[in-house]
Amino acid sequence: MMTQDELKRAVAQAAIAYIPVGSMVGVGTGSTANFFIDELAKIKNKIQGAVASSEVSAKRLQEHGIEVMSLNEAGNLPVYVDGADEITRHLHMIKGGGGALTREKIVAAASAKFICLCDASKLVDVLGTFPLPIEVLPMARSYVARQMVALGGQPKLREGFITDNGNIILDVLGLQILNPVELETKLNNIAGVVTNGLFAQRGADVLLLGTKDGVKILTP
Ligand code: 5RP
Repeated sequence: MMTQDELKRAVAQAAIAYIPVGSMVGVGTGSTANFFIDELAKIKNKIQGAVASSEVSAKRLQEHGIEVMSLNEAGNLPVYVDGADEITRHLHMIKGGGGALTREKIVAAASAKFICLCDASKLVDVLGTFPLPIEVLPMARSYVARQMVALGGQPKLREGFITDNGNIILDVLGLQILNPVELETKLNNIAGVVTNGLFAQRGADVLLLGTKDGVKILTP
C-alpha cells in the first residue's frame, strides 16, 4: 500500500514529462507542489527558471538553485504545475488550503496549460466538503462574512494567518457548489473579495492522479 506522500511523489515525477526543454515553469504551492519542486531540481539545467505562486515556493526553488523570476519579467508561461484541495472529473478545483490562491490564480491565468497533481483522495463528485478559501481585504472581513452567510455558507476566519498580499482568509463551509463556474463569478463580484478558491472558469487541463494502481491521466 503506497502512502499519501508516495502518491504525491509519483505524480510529481510524472509531471516532469510535461515540462518543455528551456522553458520558464509556473510552480504552485503546498506539499504536492513541494515534491514537484524537488523533481524539477533534478532537471534544473534543462529549464530557464520558475515563476512561483508564493514566497514559500520561491524560497524552496532558490534553495535548489533554480532561478526564480517575477511573472512580470517572465511574461506568459507554457505550463503551470500545482496541487488542489478538491478536484472534479471536469477538472474544476477548490484551492487555497495553503492560502496562496490569489497568486496561484494569476500564474495559472498566465499559463497555457495547467497540470494538476493530486493523490486519489482529492477527487470528488461535488466540490465543497473542503471549506472554500476566500482572500479578503482586512477592512471587508465582516461584510464579506455576512454575504457568505446570506449565500448559506458558514465563514470562519483563518486565525493567525495573513496572505503574501497582506490580506485575510475566510474559510467557508456548507456552500452547495453544484455550479462552480457560476459561483466563482458571483463570489468575485462581492466588494472586498480579492480572490475565491474556486478554479473553474480556468480549471486544470490535465490531472495527474496518484492511485494505488499508478498515475492516471485525466482531461476534462
Ligand atoms: C495552496 C493550494 C494547494 O495546491 C492545496 O492546498 C493542496 O495542497 P497539498 O498539496 O499540500 O495538499 O491551493 O494554496
